[in-house]
Amino acid sequence: METKKIVINPNDIQDSLLEEAAELLRRGKVVAFPTETVYGLGADALNADACREIFAVKGRPADNPLIVHIADITDVHRVVRQWPQQAQLCFENFWPGPLTLVLPKQAIVPDTVSGGLDTVAVRMPSHPIALALIRVTGRPLAAPSANISGKPSPTEAEHVWQDFNGRIPLLIDGGTCSVGLESTVLDLTGPIPVILRPGGVTREQLAGVLGRVELDKALRPEQQPKAPGMKYRHYAPEGQVVLLNGSHSEKVRQVQARLDSKRDGCRYGLVAMQETITALGQEHLDKAEAVFNLGSAQNPEEAASRLFAGLRYCDEQKADIILAEEMPIDGIGLAFMNRLRKAASK
Ligand code: TXA
Ligand code: MG
Repeated sequence: METKKIVINPNDIQDSLLEEAAELLRRGKVVAFPTETVYGLGADALNADACREIFAVKGRPADNPLIVHIADITDVHRVVRQWPQQAQLCFENFWPGPLTLVLPKQAIVPDTVSGGLDTVAVRMPSHPIALALIRVTGRPLAAPSANISGKPSPTEAEHVWQDFNGRIPLLIDGGTCSVGLESTVLDLTGPIPVILRPGGVTREQLAGVLGRVELDKALRPEQQPKAPGMKYRHYAPEGQVVLLNGSHSEKVRQVQARLDSKRDGCRYGLVAMQETITALGQEHLDKAEAVFNLGSAQNPEEAASRLFAGLRYCDEQKADIILAEEMPIDGIGLAFMNRLRKAASK
């Protein structure tokens, strides 16, 4: 099976273009589509067989549950059993957007989707193609990130193509994902909201609306994860990721020292901020096989949106070692560093 690719302009969506994808989804097939965070591998969330197909195609462990995507707030009650005041505040402030809420699930949500848990993760994406696809299909869509399990998530249709060409019937190409890191997963089943996975909506933004917001123990070192997905190897390129930390000049020196002591035949990738790349000098840049510019350190959102693309670029260039620059862990930096540390820990 050759995967069909449909290119859709997010600013000019004709529902007729989505009809083929919607029909495949209604028939229980898996379709890849863009969201504002990363591309998703979607299936009818209320069809257990269709959702099992997602796990098979992705090579995903069965106990790692899927996020259910909705387009209209009235649909939330089809999948969740309780809607606390905190959820209402999240809806009013952050939906549609990169925030996923974990809440008690309705019986109609298959165990395949929830990984056997009594809760379900639900989100309303802001990407116009994702919203239109859910509406035209007429079903909530379960969708994990559209990458082979363990690989960096896809922020371009091309990334999805690399992982799944020939394995799914259809891919909707809607361009580059603007957030570029996955949604924040927020557990609202207890009295205090708990971030299970940092993402596109920051802890500071959540605290501004909800008051106290905790980080799951799994996000602190040496602890067991609660979001089942967080315990698996994740976001990892083929090359070995080495983190660059410390002050600007320390980072520059680390890169220069690495490249100066480069062994014959070893290929180096560099994923770094504009300022670091500029400071390195051409002589050192010439020694790296792949240099990926994350943009200015003054714009952490842009750097975050480009991280996965940078890791994938280094793989394309067959880098054995990927030198990747850290950023401070406030704001979007918490999600950036969460993904980068996982990419570095194999
Ligand atoms: O931005 C996103 O969230 C993207 C796009 C496609 O929407 N999706 C995504 O899905 O990142 P996935 O499957 O790659 O990650 C879902 C995360 C996993 O860590 C999973 O364990 C957690 O959400 N999760 C799902 N259901 C859960 C539940 N009931 N309780 C706790 N964690 C849950
Ligand atoms: Mg994922």
